Amino acid sequence: MPQVEIVPSILSADLARLGEQVKAAEAAGANRIQVDVMDGRFVPNITFGPLVVEAVRRSTRLPIEAHLMIVEPDRYVSDFASAGADVIIVHQEAATHLHRLVQQVHQLGKKAGVAINPSTPAVVLEEILGDVDSVLVMTVNPGFGGQTFIEGALGKITRVRQMMNERGLDRDIEVDGGIGVVTAPLVVKAGANLLVAGAFIFNDKESVASAMLRLRDSLT
Ligand code: DX5
Repeated sequence: MPQVEIVPSILSADLARLGEQVKAAEAAGANRIQVDVMDGRFVPNITFGPLVVEAVRRSTRLPIEAHLMIVEPDRYVSDFASAGADVIIVHQEAATHLHRLVQQVHQLGKKAGVAINPSTPAVVLEEILGDVDSVLVMTVNPGFGGQTFIEGALGKITRVRQMMNERGLDRDIEVDGGIGVVTAPLVVKAGANLLVAGAFIFNDKESVASAMLRLRDSLT
């Protein structure tokens, strides 16, 4: 299984000082930064577009993931690639032609991730698993930060890891939603290695550094 990495998502960051928060996460040892893109149609919330990816790009040297929780993602992958995203994550549920979309992301020189919502079975990945760089297993229903982890996703993480192992694929499995010191060890044990965390890292009770340290320590 690839190295375990922590991926702060900016959804819960103090957006009035986004640059500072991103730099604090980088200084605290974050491995990537995730920008949670939402269009108010695929999910019941509206967040960020390519301009915010550009702003994050100016704030860090870390790889940036654009998590596209939008309908018709094919219309925007080029814009997010140009804005500086290194990884573009699209939802299987939103992509009519997912294989062609993954090819498009790769042709743009970016890594392609495919995300599946809590009610979407792992089996939908069977024909695309060999083409993507990562699978993102949503551990909450997408749309908001600070939600409660869905325990049932643990079995799916393991199933995806088994599907990869059966094909000799040592790819990343990312999880997103409700990740903190209790759930982080559970998802790693189940087979995940990229842990997206928003509310746990960006909160008004402790520094980003302190939260990152606690999260990292929970994995030792
Ligand atoms: C989708 C959002 C969240 C966020 C992380 O709803 O994209 O998953 O990244 O959420 P929390 O705050 O639970 O770590």
